[in-house]
Amino acid sequence: MEDNCRKGIILAGGKGTRLSPVTFGVSKQLLPLYNKPAIYYPLSTLMLSGIRNFLIIVNPKDLNNFKSLLGNGEQFGIEISYAEQSSPDGIAQAFTIGEKFIGDSNVALILGDNFFYGNSLSKDLLKASKKNKGATIFACEVKDPERYGVVDFDKDLKVKSIIEKPKNPLTNFAVTGLYFYDNNVIEYSKKLKPSKRGELEITDLNMIYLKKGELEVNLFARAIIWLDTGTFDSLYEAGALVKSIENKQIFKIGCPEEISWRMGWINSDQLNSLLIKYKNNEYGNYLKNLIQSKNMF
Ligand code: TTP
Repeated sequence: MEDNCRKGIILAGGKGTRLSPVTFGVSKQLLPLYNKPAIYYPLSTLMLSGIRNFLIIVNPKDLNNFKSLLGNGEQFGIEISYAEQSSPDGIAQAFTIGEKFIGDSNVALILGDNFFYGNSLSKDLLKASKKNKGATIFACEVKDPERYGVVDFDKDLKVKSIIEKPKNPLTNFAVTGLYFYDNNVIEYSKKLKPSKRGELEITDLNMIYLKKGELEVNLFARAIIWLDTGTFDSLYEAGALVKSIENKQIFKIGCPEEISWRMGWINSDQLNSLLIKYKNNEYGNYLKNLIQSKNMF
């Protein structure tokens, strides 16, 4: 697999009100999703897109905890820098906060509480990541579309509009928290005005691309699972899913060291040098077995 020069932003701030009181003390993106911190999963998703240069946007009070966990990314063969979002004023704010980091590059944004898993996922991600112009977003059929941006199609299945949290959704296709944009995203995000709920809405940004005829909406195949882990039930369900898959098969889900090693960003010696901090626990043994078996996809 190859990497590309698209940069990646993980938006890992937010209020986390649905997970209070737990989130009074800790960011929801640092909570365990079964056996790894929740942020490992969106980080892994963007790494599978070939991205190696990351900005993680966090609440000021959580910054040191994220730095203790992820550092500068060297252990994963990637670069990580951090920025603060002083107040959670909307997802689209990621691009004004991240303007300097993005520079002249294209960028992908993933929400820190989003979990993706599935067979053809890497292929879809690499395809979106390689596209140089316009935007690519992903939609997924869900039971509770009113919680999300909902895609509306015309009779030829062409996207007509995206409506943020509609009371009466016209379809069940929700926009997931994974977005690929060209560099114009910086300019477009500066034009946005706060919505009625006071946020810079990602849906408004996507509508700018749609109106220009530059928005590709990919519908995830049913074999791809998308969960937003922002509620107790969904966090628990995502954890149970990871547990059940990892107990049945030999591979781990959302293991950044493994992805980096398979991508060729760290070699076996570098992976081996990471083992010491795991003191033979299950995660460390998994990495050790990888080196020994040299399993390939
Ligand atoms: P949400 O789950 O929509 O909001 P939240 O995290 O504030 O949680 P709650 O609704 O329970 O109060 O956010 C989706 C993701 O985007 C989540 O990972 C947090 C992140 N986010 C930010 O980092 N900054 C923001 O301004 C917003 C709106 C979200």
